[in-house]
Amino acid sequence: MKDKILAPELIERQYAYMARVREWNPEGLKAHILTFGCQQNEADSERIAGMAVKMGYTLTDTVEEADLIVINTCAVREHAELKALSITGNFKHLKKTKKSLVIAMCGCMVSQEHRKDRIKSSYPYVDFVFGTTRLYTFPEILFDCLISRQRKFYLDAGDEGNIPEGLPVVRMSRFKAWVSIMYGCNNFCTYCVVPYVRGRERSRHREEILKEIEALAKEGYREITLLGQNVNSYGKDLYEAYDFADLLSDICRIEGNYQLRFMTSHPKDASYKLIDVMAREEKIAKFFHLPLQSGSNRILKEMNRHYTREHYLELVRYMREKMPDISISTDIIVGFPGETEEDFADTLSLLREVQYDNIYSFLYSKRVGTKAAVMDCQIPDDVKGERFERLLQLQNEVNLSKNRAFVGKTMEILVEGQSKTDKNRLTGRSESNRLVHFEGDSTLIGKRVTVRITEGDLHALFGELI
Ligand code: 5AD
Ligand code: SF4
Repeated sequence: MKDKILAPELIERQYAYMARVREWNPEGLKAHILTFGCQQNEADSERIAGMAVKMGYTLTDTVEEADLIVINTCAVREHAELKALSITGNFKHLKKTKKSLVIAMCGCMVSQEHRKDRIKSSYPYVDFVFGTTRLYTFPEILFDCLISRQRKFYLDAGDEGNIPEGLPVVRMSRFKAWVSIMYGCNNFCTYCVVPYVRGRERSRHREEILKEIEALAKEGYREITLLGQNVNSYGKDLYEAYDFADLLSDICRIEGNYQLRFMTSHPKDASYKLIDVMAREEKIAKFFHLPLQSGSNRILKEMNRHYTREHYLELVRYMREKMPDISISTDIIVGFPGETEEDFADTLSLLREVQYDNIYSFLYSKRVGTKAAVMDCQIPDDVKGERFERLLQLQNEVNLSKNRAFVGKTMEILVEGQSKTDKNRLTGRSESNRLVHFEGDSTLIGKRVTVRITEGDLHALFGELI
């Protein structure tokens, strides 16, 4: 089988460009990196930050200080695209006062031809654009732009994708780490733009993944999340008989005080073997994000999801049989083209049946180039909105009753930081990914503590340290 690992010379070439940019630039320049969208984008931004630091930039959160701004965009819904475009628009004035400022855009949104063209014509202050499969060439493109002062647009339309190993990385957290195990998607769900902007499914070699996780465990990382659009098809492009469940088992042999998470799973590929490994391995968080999208078999078919509601429910049943305390979350799309009141009622009834620990619900958003965008019977916004409200209401009831049921129980929490609303409070997440607030000292950030839950509301739990 053929892998998509880029030849080491191609990466070395980029290291040479990193050195050239460093020489070319005056000292003391700063870079600001802005990330939209999913964890994969966050992981990509950590690579962009790694390359920027190697090129001599220090990272800044203050955009006004920046000499280089990189906007890493998302395309999964229109809302995310419009937000990135409007923020980019706000940067126009910065260039008036700082002529040397370089503005770059990358990620999923700009990997679409029509968006790239729009940026070319309507955002003249954006200096360069690079698509997701060109991420590793960031140093070369930046160098080109610095010496020529010409605008550059790098996309590989129709590119199948690649895997750049060995890029520098600056991780944004010292206790939570992302590890991409594969890139791209082959599923072509009819609503989704991801396969068009991130190329075909390709897996990293297991040795590379294990090496990265060993290093993270040694550095004391407490939570490691494996990333892929469809982690359950890990290895299909590389190995005859080595799958995601095997990879998880191998990772769990790596010593360290960390908890392992993964996302995202596709129900068509989630295997009983995977669930068995989860149940057996202590290091794996008992938490499963399993996007349903719709509870109607007819809509699932239209979405090209390749599973039925019955199959999905059977997976949930098996998970709960093996791990009675498991938390399950999901993604739901409301208002997919042709969704009838009856179809939507099927989604609600499945929600009632499963009693999810959390749901992420989205109004269907038309994506250029996808099959669903040109389907008949697009649902009017007011109908979508009204269904969305009903969905939220139902899930709110479930959340509230689940959160209240935790009162009096103790929980292990990974402390993530100070609460946004109250500086004396800390906030963390439980194994089941529940948000927990409690009073405590900031020295606890990055540690695991035990908390007794005293209160539960719609969105969070409150507790006290014990
Ligand atoms: N409209 C609305 N939601 C979408 N998602 C993906 N594409 C669309 C779209 N066109 C949602 C799915 C997916 C999550 C990451 O985003 O629920 O699981
Ligand atoms: Fe999009 Fe479906 Fe691939 Fe997920 S599995 S990224 S929803 S096409």
